[in-house]
Amino acid sequence: MPITPTREVLAAQRLDNVRYAIRDLASVADEVKRQGHEVLYLNVGDPNIFDFKTPPHLIEAVYEAMRDGKNGYGPSSGLPEALEAIRGEAARKGISTVQDAFVTSGASEAVDICLTALINPGEHILTPRPDYPLYSAVLGKLGMAVTPYDLNEDDSWQPDLIDIQHKINSRTRAIVLINPNNPTGAVCSQRMLEQLAELARRNNLVIFADEIYDKLILDETEQEHISIAAIAPDVPVVTFGGLSKNYLAPGWRIGWGVVSGDTVAVKPYVEGIHRLLRARLCANHPAQYAIKPALDGPQDHLVEVRNNLRARRDLTVKWCNSTPRLSCVSPRGAFYAFPRIDITEGDDVFVKELCRAKHVLVVHGSGFGQKAGTRHFRIVFLPDEPTLTKAYQSIGEFIQTRYP
Ligand SMILES: Cc1ncc(COP(=O)(O)O)c(C=O)c1O
Repeated sequence: MPITPTREVLAAQRLDNVRYAIRDLASVADEVKRQGHEVLYLNVGDPNIFDFKTPPHLIEAVYEAMRDGKNGYGPSSGLPEALEAIRGEAARKGISTVQDAFVTSGASEAVDICLTALINPGEHILTPRPDYPLYSAVLGKLGMAVTPYDLNEDDSWQPDLIDIQHKINSRTRAIVLINPNNPTGAVCSQRMLEQLAELARRNNLVIFADEIYDKLILDETEQEHISIAAIAPDVPVVTFGGLSKNYLAPGWRIGWGVVSGDTVAVKPYVEGIHRLLRARLCANHPAQYAIKPALDGPQDHLVEVRNNLRARRDLTVKWCNSTPRLSCVSPRGAFYAFPRIDITEGDDVFVKELCRAKHVLVVHGSGFGQKAGTRHFRIVFLPDEPTLTKAYQSIGEFIQTRYP
């Protein structure tokens, strides 16, 4: 055989902007593991790695579906009984103008499909900064620039309305709202939701409402989570949800989208979404049998989950606020804290060196985007209190030694 020189196979240039810091750090952790150390992973929001278990009645439902032969392809938009349960859940959340619902491979696929179905070259979508990096990764994949709006740390990480107003122009098609928020743990007030809805209404924007953590509100006195789609029945909203967080089954890859708003206004967009849904055949078929029992069945597990998370959140915030160089807005939902760290070197260096020295893996704030000149890191406070206490002691020692 003739010998031809090997030519490098280059990835598409539009992928240059596709980053996923949460998993990109794995190479540092692997290096530490190869040296024989055990790494404590506080980087991935997977409750099942720690002491949270998928409710048994959901496992039974999927097992039964597989045993009963539901192993072929399912309908592209999702199982009818699952869709009915998702619509029922939307109604309980006060969303009165549901026009469509569909099941996807995790909320991640719903986000990918809904952004792809909306945006044309030259248009843009406003995404929060700091941001759950899926949104910028999808926009990067589409070859689109990211237009971030700030979350204001001085206002408990609420969206900065003035910054949003400045960034809206005639090419703005949508705004992403992650509520409860990853990475900050912030929950939007009703007043904030009303103001955001009004901005969307006045500027013809679609709202992408990522509410994947809506049942993980941690404040004791907090009322139920408020959906922006319930506040703005006339505005086109896609609300994202799923089984990954509230129902502790991230590996099943079951999520969904609910489109609400005016029937006529959203019709062409819904048709576009369904074209993409059909092209990828269907979401995991047997796992969809857990959706109805999850949403309509007992919610008992949530009491324990929230109690555990509350205690772990309190421990985290107390530690942050009593550690030199750290400060932290108390998270009110989800299971993330986003402390600010007062250092001069980059937070990416801090995170890598912390992992090498103390074998604790957190994610650098710059991996989520953050205001220029600020430094943060994200902690996943899912582990039990003894584990967190040990991790925080190690991080504290590291900070003291590296930044005396
Ligand atoms: C804000 C947010 N949206 C979406 C997702 C992805 O969810 P899924 O597992 O359903 O794809 C995550 C996962 O961490 C998330 O934090």
